[in-house]
Amino acid sequence: MGVVAWEERYSVGNERLDQQHQKIVGMINLLGEAMDAGTERPALMKILSDLAGYTKTHFAEEILMMEQCGYPKLDEHRTQHALLNRQLAEFYRNFYTISRPQSTEVIAFLLNWLYEHILQQDKQYAPYIGKTTKDRQAA
Ligand SMILES: [Fe+2]
Ligand SMILES: [Fe+2]
Repeated sequence: MGVVAWEERYSVGNERLDQQHQKIVGMINLLGEAMDAGTERPALMKILSDLAGYTKTHFAEEILMMEQCGYPKLDEHRTQHALLNRQLAEFYRNFYTISRPQSTEVIAFLLNWLYEHILQQDKQYAPYIGKTTKDRQAA
């Protein structure tokens, strides 16, 4: 499984949040590389738990940004994050019990898990957050 590249179309118009999304993609790639290299399961689980931890930090910061710019769909987004956290926790549990997880399947699931959210939900806050970023720069 090769490294998946970041594309401009994933941008939410905020450098800091884009960097966080890129870091999550990087962690997913790291997991794929580690699996292909035959890394032992405890080390893979560590990458997955780091991914879950970092995702929670990112979600919290994203919500804070939305609060600051008065994003109208904040509650909906919060619910979406809670669902994503649950899905990742379930994935973590399943990963432990699958006898031979395939890197292509694992990475496809995780990228889909992430990109669907970025492209459908995160993108919606772009006009609001973009505005506050510009306002801050102008101030
Ligand atoms: Fe989000
Ligand atoms: Fe996000």
